[in-house]
Amino acid sequence: MLCIAMDGPVGAGKSTIADEVARRLGILHLDTGAMYRAVGLAVLDAGVNPQDEAAVTALCRRGGAQVDVAYENGAQKTLVNGEDVSVRIRTQEAGSCASVISRYAGVRQMLVERQRGIARHTPVLMDGRDIGTVVLRDAPVKIYLTASAQERAMRRMKQLKEKGQAADYDEILREVNARDAQDMNRAVDPLRQAEDAVLVDSSDMTFEETVQRIIDVVEEKYAGAEHADHKG
Ligand code: DC
Repeated sequence: MLCIAMDGPVGAGKSTIADEVARRLGILHLDTGAMYRAVGLAVLDAGVNPQDEAAVTALCRRGGAQVDVAYENGAQKTLVNGEDVSVRIRTQEAGSCASVISRYAGVRQMLVERQRGIARHTPVLMDGRDIGTVVLRDAPVKIYLTASAQERAMRRMKQLKEKGQAADYDEILREVNARDAQDMNRAVDPLRQAEDAVLVDSSDMTFEETVQRIIDVVEEKYAGAEHADHKG
């Protein structure tokens, strides 16, 4: 069963790249960041202070942040406590809250369990920060997708400008560096490249080149696995 783990820092294009790779391979793409964002929203909606680890963990324990995912025409819908929050999780506020509550072991345990449950029954490309190192440690294919902080900030600025929003490069670069520091230096399951992950640095690659490179890695790995199967 196809199982692909993809990790990388914020702004590396994981979500859009993963969407396209999964579509071409005919498997589901599970965006695990969306699940942390959904918990973040449940925390805010419940009026719990995100900085209060005990209160956030207690909310999760009593089932106050039940995350589910569903698929409609191949696109992921993310639900929390039965409400479809696919749009609401994309706000800056939900992202910041996700970044805080994703530091807590109780939150991570709950979501890692859900993520493993999904991969057990479904061919999937899962993207996040700890997929290759924790969630799917045995995944046959692991990709670490990155780009320089400068390039990631440039892409983010372009995106914002396209939406007609004000964007200051220096400020965006500062935010990218701050998010990297937070994701890479937290105590529980920090972002890092798994030893057996293939590094894909998309700084000088187009979208299409990046998608193709990942598909090549997947095909090589699975061809190798099949070859080994036949020999064995
Ligand atoms: O990828 P994103 O921006 O949607 O993720 C939101 C936050 O959740 C981000 O701060 C990192 C965190 N996250 C995580 O800790 N582990 C994952 N597997 C996915 C996301």
